[in-house]
Parts: sequence; structure tokens; C-alpha cells
Amino acid sequence: MEQGWPRVLLFDSGIGGLSIADAIRLRLPHADMVYAGDNAGFPYGDLPEHEVVARCVALVEAALARWPCDLVVVACNTASTVVLPALRSRLRLPVVGVVPAIKPAAALSCSRRLGVLATPATVDRPYLASLIDEYAADCTVLRLGSSELVRLAEAGLAQGQVDDERVRAILQPLAAGDPDTVVLGCTHFPLIQKALARAMPGVVHWVDSGDAIARRVVQLLEEAGGNGAGTGQASSTFLFTAEPPAGLRKWLEVSQPGAYGDSPQISRVSLNTARNSSMGNAGLWQQ
Ligand code: DGL
Repeated sequence: MEQGWPRVLLFDSGIGGLSIADAIRLRLPHADMVYAGDNAGFPYGDLPEHEVVARCVALVEAALARWPCDLVVVACNTASTVVLPALRSRLRLPVVGVVPAIKPAAALSCSRRLGVLATPATVDRPYLASLIDEYAADCTVLRLGSSELVRLAEAGLAQGQVDDERVRAILQPLAAGDPDTVVLGCTHFPLIQKALARAMPGVVHWVDSGDAIARRVVQLLEEAGGNGAGTGQASSTFLFTAEPPAGLRKWLEVSQPGAYGDSPQISRVSLNTARNSSMGNAGLWQQ
């Protein structure tokens, strides 16, 4: 079987990056995808910056050593706000990061009241503040960071249903501010968008970054001389640093049946980061 081209590496702390993988699949149906999820470090929204950088760099480098790729997507807002300079200085590949879609959200909002739903780390990072200053200076921007909502998304996918009551309670402070547009600033949240919409029925626009990232990926691959739509037979490899999340297979069955190849490979791997160097000397073994 001819391997799919291009081969794209996606990184997230868990299964949130699937929302980005789905968007990429729609534009690159032949791509070979390697998905690296550092769920031993989950949730990243509660980790200090240096740890996020060290873990992400180590896993991405170790995965690339085993599965050479054409491009890397950091499919995690929390990691993207801090890791991109380190990754770009170490890799000779294009590295695409995910940032909260403040600009398109500001363009859509009629009431000029925006909500940003992300992890506790992302809502506090200067990166978000500068996006708001640049693109939404005339808007009231309400920010809510919640790791519990990220956990509910993982659990919801595993169980096939989301705890609506908890979602409503978590979103209450945001709902009280009455935004007409909410930015999904964590890649886990598009996976439970229906539950979010049930909890905040007054929101007109839910804005995520999936398609913008997919378009950027295609553009970079074309610039590198490739055929935009890709060629060959799609296949997918999923690597997780802890027990692979129960929601993964369910999502692969329902989101775009067959899009991840005939038999996606799902493995648990061990990640070693060197003790005295924040990065480097990483090793990855399949268990
Ligand atoms: N999916 C991630 C994000 O986009 C991270 C969630 C977490 O691990 O806290 O931020």
C-alpha cells in the first residue's frame, strides 16, 4: 500500500488535537497522520510553562526520530502559547501552532461582547492579552479558564455523553456576561461544542481554529512544493504517554468514518526527558 503524502505530526496533551486533525483530514484526505498525545502530563493547563515546553519538545523530537514528518502541528493552545520558539529553533520543519481565534471572533460579533473559553494557563498568558489588544480592542472580552471542562471533554467522549449540569455550572460566569460570540481557545472544546451550546443557548457564534490551521497546513505544504490535496493512502498512528484515552476509538468511529485509514495504530509509549537538561536526550519506546 502506498503511504499517504504528506505525513503530518500532531501534538496535544490528550485527545483535543482530534478537533484539529479532523479539520486537516477534510482538506488532506490522503495524509498520513502521526498523533502524539502527552496524556501522562494532562492537563497542560495546570502545568508550569517550563514543564510544558520540556515535555512537548521531548515528545515531538522522539516521535519525529521514529516517524519522520513533513510538518508539525502543535494542536494545543496551551502548549502553543509557550513552545513554538523552542520547537522552531530545534526543527527544520514547518511548525504550526494553534492560537485562540480572537480576530475572526471580533469580526463576527455584533454585540461587541466576546467570550474566551480556554485553559487556566491560556487565559492568563500575555499571548492572549496581545491578541485581544490587537484585534478586539473595542470589545468587552470575558475570559474563562477551566481544566475541569477539559476533563469533562475527555470523559464525555469516553462515555458518549457529557455531564450537562456540570458544563452549565462551569460556564455560568461566562453566560452571565452575555457574549454573542465565544472563542473555543482549547482544542478539546470543539469536541463538546453541542454541550456548550446547550449550556449557553444565547451564543450566536462559536469560533474555533480548526479550519484556519488546516488551510495554513495546506499552504505551507504547497510552498514546500507538494500537491495540496496529498496523495496515497491515508493512515494514522496514535501515540500516548499513558493509557490511550477511551474516547479515541469512539471519536474515530463517529467523526469521519474511515478517514483515519483502515486500521489506525494506537500505542502507549514511554517518554524520557533528561534530568538535568530541560530538553534533549529524549527516548520513546513502544510498550
Ligand atoms: N487541548 C489543550 C489546549 O488546546 C490542552 C488542554 C489541557 O491539557 O489542559 O489548550
